[in-house]
Amino acid sequence: MTEIFTGSFTQQEPIPEEAIDAAMAVLRHGRLHRYNVVPGELGETALLEQEFAAQMGAKYCLAVSSGGYALATALRAVGVQPGDPVLTNAFTLAPVPGSIASVGARPVFVGVTENLTIDLDDLEAKLDQARVLMLSHMRGHLCDMDRLMQMCDTAGVAVIEDCAHTMGAAWRGQLSGRQGAIGCYSCQTYKHVNSGEGGLLITDDEVIAAKATMLSGSYMLYERHLAAPGPEVFEKIKYTTPNVSGRMDNLRAAILRPQLRDLDRQVQRWNERYDEIATGLRDTPGLTIVERPEQETYVGSSIQFLLLDWTPERIAEVIRRCGARGVEIKWFGGAEPTGFTSRYDSWRYAESTPLPASDRILAGVMDMRVPLTFSLDDCRLIARIIRAEVRAVFQS
Ligand SMILES: Cc1ncc(COP(=O)(O)O)c(C=O)c1O
Repeated sequence: MTEIFTGSFTQQEPIPEEAIDAAMAVLRHGRLHRYNVVPGELGETALLEQEFAAQMGAKYCLAVSSGGYALATALRAVGVQPGDPVLTNAFTLAPVPGSIASVGARPVFVGVTENLTIDLDDLEAKLDQARVLMLSHMRGHLCDMDRLMQMCDTAGVAVIEDCAHTMGAAWRGQLSGRQGAIGCYSCQTYKHVNSGEGGLLITDDEVIAAKATMLSGSYMLYERHLAAPGPEVFEKIKYTTPNVSGRMDNLRAAILRPQLRDLDRQVQRWNERYDEIATGLRDTPGLTIVERPEQETYVGSSIQFLLLDWTPERIAEVIRRCGARGVEIKWFGGAEPTGFTSRYDSWRYAESTPLPASDRILAGVMDMRVPLTFSLDDCRLIARIIRAEVRAVFQS
């Protein structure tokens, strides 16, 4: 009998009851705007920032409207100007080059390795082309952060980390987003905490924190923040930093606070699911598992594997056959961007030079979400289906 998977790859878990209660309280008092507080009240957004800063061991935190907004704000806060080159990953998703384009800057794409991390040799060769690297930890894969930081520090290149897929991950025990000058996170529904839309930015740099806060639209109300620098820092930048409104509101913050408190447990649950699938796929002929370095603590909210050097027709056949059995696989090698996938050469507003070694890898990258609504049995079934279909096409 042919096994079929009937679950949904896009179904999230419900928002926790505690978060719903907190959201209802905000709705009942009606003060959704972060600066709309009564005397003595600490708003949900300010508390969220204070708690996330503490959780990440960061001095400052700013909550904003989206992960993409956090990235663009980070670029502005480190002084990126229109026309400036910004190094970034060739393997990432559209909001990353999009944030660079949104400030009028120019992405300079760096290749990807078979581990799906930024190619550090290619980065080293390009480090003299820019003074900022927007490092995307795409699909949660962390590169050798020791080597990367050493290279960037030596070259005087500021690192902005895109941690949209690594909230809760760590490199040698240090939380992702704490190595670079700024860490940016997304709280959008498909990420590790879910407020529909939302973003968080952390830093230890007081001027960056003050500028980001002004940029997000704090007017002159920055003293209502609990994880921002003192007013003396704002004094230095408040007249020269534009307002590019992108604040978080108290409703989203209320939904996020209980979820962040539960992050470690959720990470563990993701990894149980990820490990089941990885174990089920290992040693499938023709399929390469992306092995995780021992220094990395990952969050298995999605899984990638490679069908390296397969023809596009055969890859399409695997995807079709898995799809027919209910297993949704995304492919980064398709000729046209579909859904959330795209490639560096799909972003035609940005110039790119061909990266043949990366093209070979991207042509074989298969990508699958692992929502927490999947049971461990679901994960074993999904792995059996992929394994059978890859094997069938490989042997044909
Ligand atoms: C790699 C990556 N970076 C940044 C973002 C931006 O996050 P948001 O959707 O919250 O703007 C996303 C969202 O999909 C992403 O996948």
